[in-house]
Amino acid sequence: MQIDTKIIAHRGSRGTRPENTLVSFQTAINEGAEGIETDVHFSKDKQFIIMHDETVDRTTNGTGLIMDKTLGEIKKLDAGIRFSEEFKGTQVPTLQEVVNMLMKINFTGIFNLELKTNKIHYPGLERAVYEYFAGLRYPFQLIYSSFNGKSLEILNKIDPKAYEARLFKTAAKQAKTLKRSKVVEDFHPDIKWIKQHPFYAPARHLRPWVVNSTEDMQYCFERNMAAVITDYPGRAVQLRSEM
Ligand code: G3P
Ligand code: CA
Repeated sequence: MQIDTKIIAHRGSRGTRPENTLVSFQTAINEGAEGIETDVHFSKDKQFIIMHDETVDRTTNGTGLIMDKTLGEIKKLDAGIRFSEEFKGTQVPTLQEVVNMLMKINFTGIFNLELKTNKIHYPGLERAVYEYFAGLRYPFQLIYSSFNGKSLEILNKIDPKAYEARLFKTAAKQAKTLKRSKVVEDFHPDIKWIKQHPFYAPARHLRPWVVNSTEDMQYCFERNMAAVITDYPGRAVQLRSEM
């Protein structure tokens, strides 16, 4: 069976490594992932911080909002210890550190950067991200995503060529509206939702998340979706090769 579905590692190889860390991204690539998904916020001093939550509480040994801390303060935190003792001392990366790592290995896959602006909208984040990438020559395919349609619209106004995907859990109507406005190219829906309600967009424009079970992976591979976003890229690579 010819399957063109790409495998994108959700926050890196999150099932086996501390999420959103350099070791997690490197592991995913070693496992054969063709894409990396990650989340970006602004620190107090407007540095790009790679983390999922708005606070550092769940994934580090610190507490408090990212936006209330400087990069220096965030760099002192341990982003590995809560996952396991083995990863004690792992730092929270900046966007630049992740990109440098990908450029060093000439990563030509997908770099899916989620603008984490759905709970806190960081003023100026879209422009800052655009300006950062505009000054670089990078080998990967950059795909921006966000649950916040406004963020995607802001970015689209700054850079109409930015490749954008709309994330959503259940808001089909919003997705349809955005599709009509031609702001976004693709959709990143919750796999649970997409299985309950057959989606109107062609499979080649879908990259569902979080596709972790064998059944869900098969569901996406059989429909030849554009990609799966998974915590277990190694398992997905293996399963795809067996189909
Ligand atoms: O990009 C897919 C996925 O990351 C969206 O959900 O909450 O894990 O950022 P979340
Ligand atoms: Ca994300």
